This record gives sequence, C-alpha cells and structure tokens, in this order.
Amino acid sequence: MNLYERIPNNVNLNEDKKLQRALEKWLPNYLDWWQEMGPDGFQTKDVYLRTAISVEPDGWANFDYVKMPYYRWGIFLKPAAPGATIGFGDNLGQPAYQEVPGEFRNSLRRIIVTQGDTEPASVEQQRELGKTCPSLYDLRNLFQVNVEEGRHLWAMVYLLQRYFGRDGRDEADALLERRSGNPDKPRILEAFNQPCDDWLNFFCFTMFTDRDGKYQLSALAESGFEPLARTCQFMLTEEAHHMFVGDTGINRVVKRTAQLMKEGDVRELGGIPLDRIQKHVNFWFSYSLDLFGGEISSNSADFFAAGLKGRYKEQEQYEDHVVADQNFTMTVVEEGQAKTREVPMRNALNEVLRGEYVRDCEKGLARWNKTLTEAGLSERLYLPNPRFHRHVGEYSGHTFDIQGNLVSAEEFELRKADWLPTLEDREYVRSLMKPVTEPGKIAGWIAPPAAGVKGKPFEFEYVRL
Ligand SMILES: [Fe+2]
Ligand SMILES: [Fe+2]
Repeated sequence: MNLYERIPNNVNLNEDKKLQRALEKWLPNYLDWWQEMGPDGFQTKDVYLRTAISVEPDGWANFDYVKMPYYRWGIFLKPAAPGATIGFGDNLGQPAYQEVPGEFRNSLRRIIVTQGDTEPASVEQQRELGKTCPSLYDLRNLFQVNVEEGRHLWAMVYLLQRYFGRDGRDEADALLERRSGNPDKPRILEAFNQPCDDWLNFFCFTMFTDRDGKYQLSALAESGFEPLARTCQFMLTEEAHHMFVGDTGINRVVKRTAQLMKEGDVRELGGIPLDRIQKHVNFWFSYSLDLFGGEISSNSADFFAAGLKGRYKEQEQYEDHVVADQNFTMTVVEEGQAKTREVPMRNALNEVLRGEYVRDCEKGLARWNKTLTEAGLSERLYLPNPRFHRHVGEYSGHTFDIQGNLVSAEEFELRKADWLPTLEDREYVRSLMKPVTEPGKIAGWIAPPAAGVKGKPFEFEYVRL
C-alpha cells in the first residue's frame, strides 16, 4: 500500500507513469469540484473520520480528525486472487479478463460511467445538509458518507483512465461536469437528480438509494472483468456504513415519533408523524427501484452472457451459472390489464436483483416496526408495491396504487397526496430542521443513537466547529 503518495493506492501507480500523470491531472479538478459541490461551510473543520489505510479485512479503517479536503482519497482494490476465472455466462470457467475485451468495451464503459456518476451526484444532493444537522454525531456520519462517495468516484475514474484510454479520460472529466438536478447537464439516473434537502430525505436516501448501490456493486463484484470486481469488492465495505446510517437514522426518527405519539399530537410536539415518514419511504423506495433498470432487459442478458455483471452472490447462492433455459414469471401490463408472462431468465436479471433488494429493504421495515411494537403501538410502516410510482421499465407509463393495483391516471392524481410527500409535507419536515451542534445534544424530532462511533460516546465532539 502506497499510502503517502499524492494519490494513495495499492495498484503500483508509480510503475505506470502515464496513468499516474493522467490521474494527477484529474486530481486538482476533483478538488475544485469538491470545494464547489462538496459539503457547504465545513471544508476547514476537523471531522472525526475513518480513512482506508489497508484493504485487509481486519485493519482497513483508521479513525482520526481530518479536514475533508485533506481526506486521503485513493485507489484501493481488493488483492487479486491468482487464477481467477469468469464465474457465469457463456464464457464460464475461462480466465477472467485482465484487460477490456474489445467486443464489450462499450458495455463496460457504460456500466462504469453509470455507476461512477452516482457517486459525485449524491455528494451534490447532500451538499446543504450539514447546516441543519440534528447532532454532531449525525453531522460526522454525513461527512463520512460524503468523503467515501468521493472515493468511490476515484475508484471508477481509475478504471476509466487505466483501461479505456482517451475515451476513459473524457468520461472522467465529464463525471466532474454533470450536476445533480441541473436541467442542462443532469446526472444520468433520475434518483440522483432528486433533491435531498432535509434529513428525513437523507436517511431514506442512504437506506434505499445507497442500498441499490450495494446490489449493483455486488453484481459487479462478480464480474469477469477482474479489476472491476476487485474495486467493487472493496467499495462494498464502505457502502455498508452508508446503509447503516440510513437504517438506524430512520429507526431513530420512528423511535422519537413513537415517544411523542404517546405524549400527544406529534406535530404540535415538533416530531415527524408516521404517515409523513411513510410518504418519504414510498418516494425513495420507488425511485430506487427504477435504478435496477427495466424488468425485461436485453442489456441484462448481454451483460450476463458476457460475464460482465452477475447476480447477487452469484457464486454463493446459485449452482447453475449459465442460466440458458430457465424462465422467470413476472407481471406485465397488456392491453390495459395486469397479466403474468414468462420471460427468459437472462432477460429478467434486473428484476431478480430488484427482488433481492426488496427482501433486504423489508428487513429494515421489520426493524422499524419492532421499534413501534416495543413502544406499545399498533401502527406499522410498510413498503409500497414495487409497481407503485415507477418511471423506468414495465410499469412506467401506467399508474398503480400503493398495493400495486392498476388504477387510472385520474385516480392516481386524486390519491397521490396520500402516498407521496406533498409540498406542504416537505415544508413541514424542513421547518423542523434546525441545527443542533452542541456535543451531546440532539434535535427534538429524532432519538439519539444507541452507540457512538468506534467506541466513542454520543457526547464526543465528532466535528470541531
Ligand atoms: Fe458509493
Ligand atoms: Fe454509498
């Protein structure tokens, strides 16, 4: 591990001068982007952050105060396993690709650019949140997520610059030029153009949208293009913390709301009513489902056949890695009616991955509902049907109610305010967002965490303001 170089890395960057020069040229542009679009107002503050110092499972994280622009963003790949082979698809058992195969060059570039684009996008979406943090603990977690998304961008830019020549360098530049929510140069995927301007949005985003990241990275961690697989395997260890922030964040909001429900009117007491939490869940869950792509997809079949993108835990949970003649049954809309249809499995792999994701989200819902049970309440939170409020794939262009029944566009419009946050809901949640920055103090709409960071108490000064 070359930790103290200008670009920390474990890929022997100093042996590849051309690549090193290209990345060192990109570095100041990245830092400019970070100053312009990273956390607003906190760039000179000391933040108690973890930094990757090794890719070994027992010692990769180091905790210390760091000013964010000095965070050691670097290139860390899980070490190569000798004799790696392609684990699925038409080339099953062949040696893994160490360079980009010509015929898959465009597909791979697209996969990497699409993943890479989400990383800076989320930092942009979360840029203003620091100013309304509910506690120093939460502020620190926000910044931890932000710097790691920055590192994920580095991970993808390394692949582009190392393996895609001039095109890759152009794509790396473009990743710093698009902007979340900008009508002229938006980010590629729609969930990453949605505003994430209050902390309930942030927790839903890290719960649901970062979790999409987990599943995409897991599928790419199986890739027969070995550098991509090894990059994603390391990114997944960082991603786990982002989902922890979202999952426990919502749980703490639910816990506080439950306390307030027993005391009186949640709104009057300055909390977030359960039905508002539910609407935020509906919004981010449905947008995050879109990120998996169309239910029936020739891309998914091609990527699988080529050995580029596998299934979740491909090696661990499947025996048949070719999947040549299986079918998958799904609901489609034909002539205005929901019907079931058989689809070749390889064309349904987006939907298979989405199903894994939904099951994982359900576990989060179960944890939040346990909090409600423990508070002695009978109310429950739930996930909307996956057909609800979709903008990509088989169900986009149709309107479904929250249970997944096909309804007319008029009916959807009439009932939309029951299911999705209204302007008034958003304004109410925003009105609660007042910064709390005294160590050990917490905003009134959220419960404190069960534990601090790395054995430190909640009262610890996680950010020195
Ligand atoms: Fe990420
Ligand atoms: Fe993330």
